[in-house]
Amino acid sequence: MIPKSLRRKAEDPSCRVIVFLGGVDTGKTTLVWELAKELSKSYTIGVVDSDVGQSHLGPPTTVGWGIMPPDVEDWDGVEVRGIYFVGALSPQGHLLPTVVGTKLLCDEARSFCDKVLVDTTGLIWGDVGRILKSTKVDVLDPDLVVGIQKGRELEPILNLWKGIRRPQVLKFQTPPEVRSKTWEMRYTYREERFRKYFREARLLSIRWREVGIYHLSPERLAEAGDRQKGRIVSLRDREGKDRALGAVYEVDPRGVLVVWTPLGEDIEVGGVLFGEVWLPEGILS
Ligand SMILES: Nc1ncnc2c1ncn2[C@@H]1O[C@H](COP(=O)(O)OP(=O)(O)OP(=O)(O)O)[C@@H](O)[C@H]1O
Ligand SMILES: [Mg+2]
Repeated sequence: MIPKSLRRKAEDPSCRVIVFLGGVDTGKTTLVWELAKELSKSYTIGVVDSDVGQSHLGPPTTVGWGIMPPDVEDWDGVEVRGIYFVGALSPQGHLLPTVVGTKLLCDEARSFCDKVLVDTTGLIWGDVGRILKSTKVDVLDPDLVVGIQKGRELEPILNLWKGIRRPQVLKFQTPPEVRSKTWEMRYTYREERFRKYFREARLLSIRWREVGIYHLSPERLAEAGDRQKGRIVSLRDREGKDRALGAVYEVDPRGVLVVWTPLGEDIEVGGVLFGEVWLPEGILS
């Protein structure tokens, strides 16, 4: 159920960007979904999913965004319009790409949509959580921050904005119906997302000396051997946009990198970003 105060603020035409904050299992994604559906009756609504572990838009390891179509039934019905590769399953240790990716995709979404809703991870604890959420809000400059908490655990972050006019902050308690997910449920969900993503994958050979290699030195790649097998990479197009993930199949030190990927045949690879995640075994035969 969408709280009345939120519905009223969100429906105002001047409210363009809304960021949802809260710890794990507080009901963020469900509220984003319900509000996005409701608002899509009158507006073009973009959703940016900056949760890199439990992604709903785009595969795990990425920030993703899409436009809510009318009468959509679940997240799978929302076409992904863009991704940004973070290369990890948690923003911890990857704050910069998480914040940069969220900002870039939010800007892209704003150029197509009346309003943009930004979902986030449950990382709110300690210095890391505060730095992540405060820099994200600083750079996104949202009209509204929606904070959801079980107790008062989000207060140290929400208090950051108590003395300033923008963003406005609305706070809610987690509804009692919200269910916690176990570690196994999160792992299984992620594996399933990877499995779906790579279902239509093919083998693609890339001459890696002719494109940019990020986060792994060409020397290391040349001596890579079997260690890189299954490693998740992002394939950037010639315009510098992340277009699809790949999983390393083979590295030929003479200069050919072979990856499994669902990347469209018509897209030329201009760069390869190495992540810190390996695809779970059994997904690629
Ligand atoms: N209002 C609600 N009524 C019934 N079930 C709900 C409600 N809100 C959330 N849930 C359920 O509770 C669970 C957790 O909710 P949700 O995934 O929205 O939380 P979250 O804060 O986004 O979690 P995460 O930390 O994984 O991002 C889900 O299974 C969801 O279906
Ligand atoms: Mg969520």
